[in-house]
Amino acid sequence: MAQQQRTGLLEGKTIVIVGAGPGFGRRLALRAAAEGATVVVAARTASRLDAMVHDIRSAGGRAYSVAVDASDATSVRVLREKVAEHTDAVHGLVNSAFATPSMKPLAQTDHEQIARGIDLSVLGALRATQEFTPLLEAGGAGGSGTGGRSGGSVVMMASAVIHHSRERYAGYKIAKTALVALGHSLATELGPRGIRVNTVAPGYIYGDTLKAYFEHLAGKYGGTLEDVYQHTAAKMDLRRLPTEDEIVDPVLFLLSDRASGITGQTLTVDCGEFHT
Ligand SMILES: NC(=O)c1ccc[n+]([C@@H]2O[C@H](COP(=O)([O-])OP(=O)(O)OC[C@H]3O[C@@H](n4cnc5c(N)ncnc54)[C@H](OP(=O)(O)O)[C@@H]3O)[C@@H](O)[C@H]2O)c1
Repeated sequence: MAQQQRTGLLEGKTIVIVGAGPGFGRRLALRAAAEGATVVVAARTASRLDAMVHDIRSAGGRAYSVAVDASDATSVRVLREKVAEHTDAVHGLVNSAFATPSMKPLAQTDHEQIARGIDLSVLGALRATQEFTPLLEAGGAGGSGTGGRSGGSVVMMASAVIHHSRERYAGYKIAKTALVALGHSLATELGPRGIRVNTVAPGYIYGDTLKAYFEHLAGKYGGTLEDVYQHTAAKMDLRRLPTEDEIVDPVLFLLSDRASGITGQTLTVDCGEFHT
């Protein structure tokens, strides 16, 4: 379980993570459970989800898994139905499902690839948010409130790609920028029901997935993993890349009652690559 100090930040809350992957998603699940939440991990690969649940329970936390395909409305409905069998309120929903988009220039990108990226990142987040809205609204009555009305919290996982238009990133940028727009509109629509909607835009998440990619680049262009890291980090004010925990921390904050007055915001976490 997490090495960080535990504060009971999410005590009594149920947090659903859609697109709980092996890096960021797993770390978020472990840390949310360590902060007192019951965590629902959801993605397509049941074996990985089961291993996450095992790790959380072994550390004394509460978790269960539900296999879901975020691009399939029926599957998302089944996820909500299964969660509703366990609880009558959900306090946090993290929309993190992601599949590597086409990295070709737009001129060579088939529209189907762009549409698939939007379907998963944007409509996937919308499907889940719509399904969970009644449970998130009910979540306003629970949790460890701080005095004001503290409703359910939705966090969209975007990317700092929203801040640049570099070649080959168009498909990714289009999907993640639309996700930011979705977050804004949902914040407006769901705010009166006590539900907050915010977006986190990581620059990089320096974990095993990114390390493997940097190894690949080092092999392709010559040099070492450290060379690729330093070359990339040179663009950041802090001269380093955010760790998984540095992305998890603001997500935990936005899910918590400490962020009860924050909605409709996009928080870029990139060690200072972009000043937004
Ligand atoms: N890694 C980075 O450096 C970085 C940088 C900026 C932003 N981000 C964003 O931060 C989030 C987390 O990043 P990550 O690298 O940890 O992501 P990731 O593991 O690549 O993706 C998250 C998980 O989404 C799941 N997924 C894919 N398609 C799905 C579907 N149809 N239904 C349900 N789940 C699906 C996958 O698990 P299954 O295959 O088991 O379904 C995958 O493990 C993502 O939204 C990503 O775009 C990451």
